[in-house]
Amino acid sequence: EAAEKGGFASFMDKEIHDQPQAVGDTLLGRTDLEGRLVLDDLRIDESVLRTVDKIVVIACGTAAYAGHVAKYAIEHWCRIPVEVELAHEFRYRDPVVNEKTLVVAITQSGETMDTLMAVRHAREQGAKVISIVNTHGSTIPRESDAVLYTHAGPEIAVASTKAFLSQITAAYLLGLYLAQLRGNMFPDEIAKIYDELREMPGKIQEVIDRGARVREIARWMADTSSVLFLGRHVGFPVAMEGALKLKELAYIHAEGFAAGELKHGPIALIEPGQAVFVIVPSPRGRHSLHSKVISNIQEIRARGARTLVLAEDGDEAVLPYADEVFWVPQAPTLLAPLLTVVPLQIFACELATARGLDVDQPRNLAKSVTVE
Ligand code: G6P
Repeated sequence: EAAEKGGFASFMDKEIHDQPQAVGDTLLGRTDLEGRLVLDDLRIDESVLRTVDKIVVIACGTAAYAGHVAKYAIEHWCRIPVEVELAHEFRYRDPVVNEKTLVVAITQSGETMDTLMAVRHAREQGAKVISIVNTHGSTIPRESDAVLYTHAGPEIAVASTKAFLSQITAAYLLGLYLAQLRGNMFPDEIAKIYDELREMPGKIQEVIDRGARVREIARWMADTSSVLFLGRHVGFPVAMEGALKLKELAYIHAEGFAAGELKHGPIALIEPGQAVFVIVPSPRGRHSLHSKVISNIQEIRARGARTLVLAEDGDEAVLPYADEVFWVPQAPTLLAPLLTVVPLQIFACELATARGLDVDQPRNLAKSVTVE
């Protein structure tokens, strides 16, 4: 087993380090000689994809957060409404789904029972289903109309890391592909984003290489009983995933919030010493988004919160209000989750290890939930 871990203390630590490759491999071979996107494994009639008027993403756990990130990107690029729903909720309500609905099922294992049932439920109503799956030969791709494989390689640790990054990557590819097919963007715009995507593995590596400080802070915080995570726009699902990782691995109460909701409740939780991670959007993106999150940091700091801020290199606006800054390389706003979630994974992994817990096999959890 030590050999399989490749010298890392845990599978999770190894899988965090595998992420640049997982994203790179998921992007590999997706363009033709003219630079157009080709999704070979997506055997679904192009005329169907052109007439889709709604996308519903179904998934559970971490995969559902990948779906939330996908929503921001796909709506922006394709101008198709995207809903994201937990598979177990989707299948027990009466969702409006028909032949013009494209359902995207995201699953690492391809075996999650609720996701499988939701796929069947959607197809019975005439929807086409594309699944984004990591495990070849699993059930969900067999029951889908088409499949887009992530190439993260086997993920052993129960808590998902590299599968998550490759799911987000695959969802970006799907979004760009639909935009290309439906003529929502000019080919050179798509090519530019694809090139930016191809720079992400190197940037993810950079975030991993800078991990020492986040590990140090995680060890200092081993006895913390509550951590909050705030994010906005694509930073919101990152906040929720950061909180989920901490719950799963360290058994600490953790919650992710949309930063804009702060005044509608979460701010009441802020008392002196409360640790809060804040994911700050790029200052080069939409200005108002950046400045709103900066004022959120200011508000919680004024009430005594200990602010752990994730910000883009060069964003000095965060300095006056941050107790600690974890810097990530510059990236386009929509692609930033591939970077900002990494310090949160490292934090949870290190903190759980410092508490003496088994990060690969957290109590009560299973890698793949094949029962309802
Ligand atoms: C379990 C795992 C999670 C995973 C979720 C969905 O809860 O512990 O890490 O995100 O199932 O699994 P799937 O295989 O469908 O992505």
